[in-house]
Amino acid sequence: LIRPVLKTQLLCCSGFQPLLTSGLAAMLRKVFLAGGHVTPFVGKGSPNFQKGLKGLKEYFAESIQGAFRETGAKPEAIDRIYVGNFAGELFNSQGHLGAAVAAAHPALLHRPSMRVEAACASGGLACAEAVRAICAGDDIVLAVGVEVQTEADSRTGGTYLARAADFKRQSGLDDFTFPALFARRAKAYLEKYPEVKMADLATVGVKAYSNGNKNPLAHMHSVKRPLEKAVAGPEFLKNEELKPFVRATHCSQVSDGGAAAIFVSEEGLRKCGLSKHQAVEIVATDYGAGDLWSDPEDLAVMDTTRAVVSRMLASAGVKPSDLDVAEVHDCFAIAEILMYEAIGLAPPGKGTELVKSGATSLEGKIPVNTGGGLISFGHPVGATGVKQVLEIYRQMKGLCGDYQMKSQPNLGLCVNMGGDDKTCSAMLLRNT
Ligand code: ACO
Repeated sequence: LIRPVLKTQLLCCSGFQPLLTSGLAAMLRKVFLAGGHVTPFVGKGSPNFQKGLKGLKEYFAESIQGAFRETGAKPEAIDRIYVGNFAGELFNSQGHLGAAVAAAHPALLHRPSMRVEAACASGGLACAEAVRAICAGDDIVLAVGVEVQTEADSRTGGTYLARAADFKRQSGLDDFTFPALFARRAKAYLEKYPEVKMADLATVGVKAYSNGNKNPLAHMHSVKRPLEKAVAGPEFLKNEELKPFVRATHCSQVSDGGAAAIFVSEEGLRKCGLSKHQAVEIVATDYGAGDLWSDPEDLAVMDTTRAVVSRMLASAGVKPSDLDVAEVHDCFAIAEILMYEAIGLAPPGKGTELVKSGATSLEGKIPVNTGGGLISFGHPVGATGVKQVLEIYRQMKGLCGDYQMKSQPNLGLCVNMGGDDKTCSAMLLRNT
């Protein structure tokens, strides 16, 4: 349990010694993120959003072409491509998305390209595999994530997303299976810590919207969500037992969007004409999977995330208190709270105190989800993990405009989750 799948072992780059010995240890090299491009994330609630205007092909082209433009990477120099997408077959009747990238540039034709799928962690795994490919000898690798979800209405889409759960066992909980699964976690959390109330969870949404209001790429850029609105958001589940434990204002969005990131070796940096100072260094990356077919012992704990992140931080000799910024998977407000506790930013039961203290706001000690997170920036599921690493890059390089942190961070963490804490992909990045 929680072993990296695909015979992958933990990778620790840049001179940090891995605790777990890796089959790739002899080939470890420095790996950098040269930058990339995130399209606007859009859907219901975004001004000018037009359903059907752009599909998978357009989002692949826009994000990949943007990444070439913004990094100086030449399409001819791309050694390998990883595509993150969860459910193209269901949302868009389109699979085989490793072959969806050549339309972005003719030089990508016949390059090694494959899709990786781990539900909402597909993008994170595409990035992790890109790092592994550099460690194994490639110089320039593209990780791209795209999802177009608005071709279905949100209820039908909810049943598609349910494929990331144990479908036969869990889809009957509600058409909105994932909101129901996380309502179940919120219920367990509130029962375990009776001093915590639903209004405390709403604070996560208030922070998310406040950050997203400063981010022109955010799906909910124009939607205001002060505390009273976040607290009073509508209940929408049909499951009567779970209904009170999630509100629409606690949920990530049903979004369309794409994100493309370019990972490079030192040689790759030279090929792109970049100095180290224009890139960020990947300190470590790791991922792991839980057991899809069973429930965790304690629904108030994200055990897969805790295992993967603590293993990665320990390998790098980094403590949670060393982090300057984090992107965590806030698919629902309760998920962000459980992530704080799984990562070690807050002790068990104290996650809502952390967010209410302002420590994770833009001005706080450890800003989390600075561009609005999944709740406000949006959540085109296969794109999210790629967007997360680019958000850390953009904060480190001072590219975040109105939501730029006052002092540019040095050390940042990304945590991308698939399903109900069933896959976790984590990455640690350092400014150079
Ligand atoms: N009052 C009462 N009920 C309401 C209200 C309201 N104001 N608004 C919506 N509803 C109910 C309705 O019953 C509606 O049901 P219907 O299909 O019978 O009409 C239902 O909610 C959905 O309404 P929509 O108008 O379709 O809602 P919207 O498009 O605003 O979506 C929602 C809101 C449902 C919260 C959506 O954003 C969502 O599903 N988010 C979560 C997405 C998700 O699960 N992603 C995966 C995360 S898992 C992971 O990342 C690991």
